Amino acid sequence: MTTIFPIEKLSQEQTPFYYYNMELLEATLNEIKSCTEGMPYKVHYAVKANANERILRTIQEAGLGVDCVSGGEVAASVNAGFDSKKIVFAGVGKTDREINLALDADILCFNAESIPELEAINALAQAKGIVADVAFRVNPNVDAHTHKYITTGLSENKFGINMEQLPEVLSIATAMKNINVVGLHFHIGSQITELDPFERLCEKVNELQCEVEKLGVKLKIINVGGGLGIDYVNPDENPIASFKEYFDIFKNSLKLREGQEVHFELGRAIVAQCGSLITSVTYVKKGTVKQFIITDAGMTDLIRPALYQAHHKIENITSSSSETVVYDVVGPICESSDCFGENEILPVTKRGDLLALRSAGAYGEIMASQYNLRKLPHAVYSK
Ligand code: LLP
Repeated sequence: MTTIFPIEKLSQEQTPFYYYNMELLEATLNEIKSCTEGMPYKVHYAVKANANERILRTIQEAGLGVDCVSGGEVAASVNAGFDSKKIVFAGVGKTDREINLALDADILCFNAESIPELEAINALAQAKGIVADVAFRVNPNVDAHTHKYITTGLSENKFGINMEQLPEVLSIATAMKNINVVGLHFHIGSQITELDPFERLCEKVNELQCEVEKLGVKLKIINVGGGLGIDYVNPDENPIASFKEYFDIFKNSLKLREGQEVHFELGRAIVAQCGSLITSVTYVKKGTVKQFIITDAGMTDLIRPALYQAHHKIENITSSSSETVVYDVVGPICESSDCFGENEILPVTKRGDLLALRSAGAYGEIMASQYNLRKLPHAVYSK
């Protein structure tokens, strides 16, 4: 499903803004549904990727649950209509206020990451006279071969508890009166494009399940996190991620016990391809060696290139020129990292042209900031 930009509609909007292809989002959600049908699989959308209300509602209508990492995300999910029993809450630093909010919302479970956190949840649940369902985030020490800022499953990361500590943590947790241990949680990183690390993860989970059984603890939930990557280079050729191959790995490699559910927390793979950042060209500037396209969007609207050296495909969606020129495409912010692309081959571009920065539906709008007192980008939808 190629994204066709409705130029007339987009030309009337104040740039920069995010444009969402809602048909593509729906097609992606349908694909997930058909790949998981008949399996004991529950997909929780990772809200951190994009908490735009229309996007959240569309995902809710498709029947998915959510993975939240803050009280704000729990509240936004409840507002968007998600059933509280489809909400899980992760994060290394949940505050008392956030834990209370989640307890009051009666969420499905907390993904706990440390003993002090467990103690806090136990105490706060006790004060309310309730029992909190908890899964433990375990650090499986699997290298996801992705950017170092978005790898999370190695022993040196701050996330989760290490595999060796699990027996101790489980014995502490099972002795707590207001904690009910329901599962284990894993997440090895993001933008994982070779599927091999997921297979390694399954092996670790299988090993760990045997150990946990020896301790007499029954697990209902195996949460394998998210991380499935997308094609940033060819968004039109691969608009929908390889969900079938991805889910097949878990079907073939995970040894589930009777009654167990597998939970997934996919963010990027669900929303990245449906979003583009639309920006207009403020100036085309000829330097001595380079030509620059200066856009009205900057790193404040899409920070991924500046923060992770990420590249989003850039298209001039209004030029009709068949001649191409090599440009550096840069934003207006006074930071050298405010650059969307170097040596981009684009059709002859002029002031006022519209550019689309593709595959920006995940970690785009939600990571925008007001640095330089700029306005936050708004959103436009295909329908
Ligand atoms: N579950 C947990 C516990 C996570 O930490 C994350 C992402 C996800 C699920 C969803 O991962 P996904 O399916 O989206 O890969 N801002 C970065 C990505 C940070 C990802 C953080 N954790 C970026 O723009 O690439």
